[in-house]
Amino acid sequence: MRKTINYFASLKQQGVKFSCLTAYDASFSQLMELAGIECLLIGDSLGMVIKGQESTLSVSLDEMIYHTQNVSRATTDVFIMSDLPFGLCASIEQSYQAAVALMSAGAQMIKIEGGAVMQETIKFLTQRGIPICSHLGLLPQSVHKIGGYKVQGKDVHTAKQILADAQLMVNAGADMILLECIPHGLAKQLTKEVSVPIIGIGAGNSCDGQILVSYDMLGITAGGGPSFSHNFLAENNSIEEAIKAYANAVKSKSFPKLKKND
Ligand code: KIV
Repeated sequence: MRKTINYFASLKQQGVKFSCLTAYDASFSQLMELAGIECLLIGDSLGMVIKGQESTLSVSLDEMIYHTQNVSRATTDVFIMSDLPFGLCASIEQSYQAAVALMSAGAQMIKIEGGAVMQETIKFLTQRGIPICSHLGLLPQSVHKIGGYKVQGKDVHTAKQILADAQLMVNAGADMILLECIPHGLAKQLTKEVSVPIIGIGAGNSCDGQILVSYDMLGITAGGGPSFSHNFLAENNSIEEAIKAYANAVKSKSFPKLKKND
C-alpha cells in the first residue's frame, strides 16, 4: 500500500522529519524506495539533469507523463508527486486536464509553482480530488522573470508575501507546500504557522521534510549542484548507501546543516 497524504500529515503532528528525492526512472526509483525515501518527485528538473537544458521550461506534459509512469511502475510503497510543467496554467481547465493525465500516469499529488495567482486553480483541482503541493519561494519556471536562480523572501515585504501566499494556498485546499531557496527563519516560521506538511530545499533545517535533486545529492549533476546540496556519494561506498545516508540524515536532523547566511 502506498503512503498517502495522511502519512505526511501525521509525521508533521509527531514532529518526525521525512525525506524526499527527485526521481525520473525505474531503477533509481526502486533503489530510493528500498533505501527509505518516503516521497519521490518527478520534477521538471528533468529538463536540466536528463535533457541537459538550461532551465525547466522545455519540459512537456508528455515527458512528465512518461517519467511518472516509469517511477510508478517500479515502486509500490513510496508517495509519488509530479510537477505540472511550464505553460499549462493558461486556464483552470488546461491545468485540470494536465493534472488528470499525470494522476492517471501514477501521481498521487501534483506540484504547482506559484502563489496567489494559482489560488482558483488549486481550489478547482483539490475540490475535484487532486491533492496539490504548492511550490513557493524560488520558482524555477519563472527564472527569466526573476532574473536568475536567487534566494527569495530576504526582505520584509517579500517574506510577508510568501507567508500570505502559503496561507492562501492552504485555504484554497493545498495539502503540502514546498519552499525553495528562502531564508531559514522564514521557513521555520512558515512550518510552525501552516497546518500542512512543509518540504524544504535550500530553506534550512526546520521544515517538516527535505528534498534534493537526486543527481545533486549523488554529485553527478553536470556543472555541479547548488551550494545548499550535499554530495552523499562522496562519503559512501555505493549509491544505495548514499541514499540511505541522506534519508537517515534528514530523519536525525543532521541534514541540512545551517550555514552562516541561512
Ligand atoms: O523539479 C524539481 O526537481 C523541483 C525540486 C527543485 C524541488 O521542483
